[in-house]
Amino acid sequence: MNNRTRRLRNNGIVRKMTRETRLSCDSLIYPIFIREGTQIEEELPSLPGQFRYSPDRLAKGIERGLNAGVSSFLLFGIPNDKDETGTGAYDENGVVQQALKHALNSFGSDIYLITDVCLCEYTSHGHCGLIKGSKTLLDESYQGCLTSPLPKTGTNSDRSFVIDNDKTLPLLAKTALSHIHAGSDMVAPSGMMDSTVAVMRAAMDAEGFTNTPIMSYSAKYASAYYGPFRDAAGSTPQFGDRKTYQMDYHNSREALKRIKFDIDEGADVVIVKPALPCLDIISSAYNITDIPIAAYSVSGEYAMTKAAGVAGLIDEYNVMCESAVSVFRAGATMLITYYAIELAGAINRGDIG
Ligand code: PBG
Ligand code: ZN
Repeated sequence: MNNRTRRLRNNGIVRKMTRETRLSCDSLIYPIFIREGTQIEEELPSLPGQFRYSPDRLAKGIERGLNAGVSSFLLFGIPNDKDETGTGAYDENGVVQQALKHALNSFGSDIYLITDVCLCEYTSHGHCGLIKGSKTLLDESYQGCLTSPLPKTGTNSDRSFVIDNDKTLPLLAKTALSHIHAGSDMVAPSGMMDSTVAVMRAAMDAEGFTNTPIMSYSAKYASAYYGPFRDAAGSTPQFGDRKTYQMDYHNSREALKRIKFDIDEGADVVIVKPALPCLDIISSAYNITDIPIAAYSVSGEYAMTKAAGVAGLIDEYNVMCESAVSVFRAGATMLITYYAIELAGAINRGDIG
């Protein structure tokens, strides 16, 4: 019996040679917040080391990524004005749309731009879908994008308010199209409304964007780890919570069900989110899918690591490295992380990967 497992840990070269998990900067996606306005470049109090840029300054954030070896970015927009139906999200001259045009002008195809598609940053109530009863100028033609009619009960209910799933879908399709018109390379619906991918895919195909992929936030939990993001994006719900659309963290099989639905509807990449609390989900998703899986290490994961590091309680750099490697070990293909730049440094120095 060979019970000597330490032989392959004898020195750094053999340890690296026998590593099971390899990392590359190519797998890192860097989230960037864009705030409406000009000449804005402000550090986020809830996410130290992260910034909000106005569209004309976005190039700064992108350059920071490119200089480190990161070429993929996930854009979030923060509009000045919000309303009940989130019109800023699908405004052809909205904040993300402006940012895309700026970025495309400056960097062309040297970068890859993914855009988060949701209403919560744009609605006055802060929810990811329309509140039932709100008046909206819906373009009914998008409803025709549904491959099969949705059941009549297409709503999520709570005691005090109802999120109208099916009325939200055309607006999400409209938002995705407006991003693509402005130059988005990939759209990422994050609102957890049922049938989003089907409706979005059909709307995109109908306009001839058959080549633009959809990265769906398929397994997105109702998580307290999103707190710092909501501060940064001003998207905290004004009433209630997101538990009627985001998933209950007691469940894992439900995540697999949702992932399968999204793949059937045409998702090209699925996201699992948050990352460290969901390593089990990443691992099971890996086993049931044959498409890339993106893990999203969310704002709270970054903020906790940062804060504990600053307090001298942990070694921030090494905790960052270990956390990142663990999601790839679990089966993730890509990692969306606010640490993308620092991680690229760690990979390039050979500390991980
Ligand atoms: C928008 C969205 C959120 C995140 C990504 N897209 C916030 C939320 O659902 O409340 C969270 C990202 C993070 O915490 O880093 N729906
Ligand atoms: Zn949302």
